[in-house]
Amino acid sequence: MDEYIRAEDLRKLYTMGTVEVRAINGVSFSVRKGEFVGITGSSGSGKSTLLHMLALLDPPTEGTITIADRDVISLSEAEKGIFRLSRFGFIFQDYALVPELTAEENVSLVAMARGEEAGSYSRRSRKLLGQVGLGERVAHLPSELSGGEQQRVAIARALINTPEILFADEPCANLDSTNSRAVLDLFREINQRMNLTVIMVSHEDWHMEYFDRVIRLRDGKIEEDFQPEIPDATASP
Ligand SMILES: Nc1ncnc2c1ncn2[C@@H]1O[C@H](COP(=O)(O)OP(=O)(O)OP(=O)(O)O)[C@@H](O)[C@H]1O
Ligand SMILES: [Mg+2]
Repeated sequence: MDEYIRAEDLRKLYTMGTVEVRAINGVSFSVRKGEFVGITGSSGSGKSTLLHMLALLDPPTEGTITIADRDVISLSEAEKGIFRLSRFGFIFQDYALVPELTAEENVSLVAMARGEEAGSYSRRSRKLLGQVGLGERVAHLPSELSGGEQQRVAIARALINTPEILFADEPCANLDSTNSRAVLDLFREINQRMNLTVIMVSHEDWHMEYFDRVIRLRDGKIEEDFQPEIPDATASP
């Protein structure tokens, strides 16, 4: 199997006074380039912790992560920053938008950070906002948007740099089923057209039909790693 991302015996230990939380407790798996992976598991099972470690936002206590044949754990903080900016898109569970910036500026920010020319990312930013149904909201501040709209701004922001890997932490948590489907269809379309690798946390059973594969966590360990059944396309809706 061609391994694109490889996690080996990952562990994350949080020490709170005398209490130790083993948020991730010995997790190993690999992901192929272009795979659409769902991460599920109950609240507190370690999904966000795992995603943050894979995206180089938080170092593991133990274990190794290899991405595109690079041992990414050994990179310096500056190198990790460049790696993230050039290859990753990340949708945080709490969106993490900049409150003083408009929807369009929030989306453009990471392209700006790459030193891109304003004309090109501003066009792309508006196009992406249109694709997530926010064409009429580009000049709104986060405080002038609903929770679901803020979430869609965060989704557009994660896609602005045409990442190789999209990490998404419950990207549909505040969206109704129509908007959720639009977002998942967009991910699937980019996944197939650009061979985007997607690692997405989800609680919803119906999202399974989008995933090539599902990793289910329980108490910081992999409980199950399986290919969901593809729904019968000939069945009547
Ligand atoms: N910064 C932290 N300090 C201490 N403990 C933490 C910290 N972050 C997470 N934890 C603990 O680690 C465990 C896993 O947390 P994590 O956020 O990864 O869960 P999750 O599966 O994403 O849950 P949810 O579905 O509620 O988002 C939880 O028991 C949590 O309390
Ligand atoms: Mg979480």
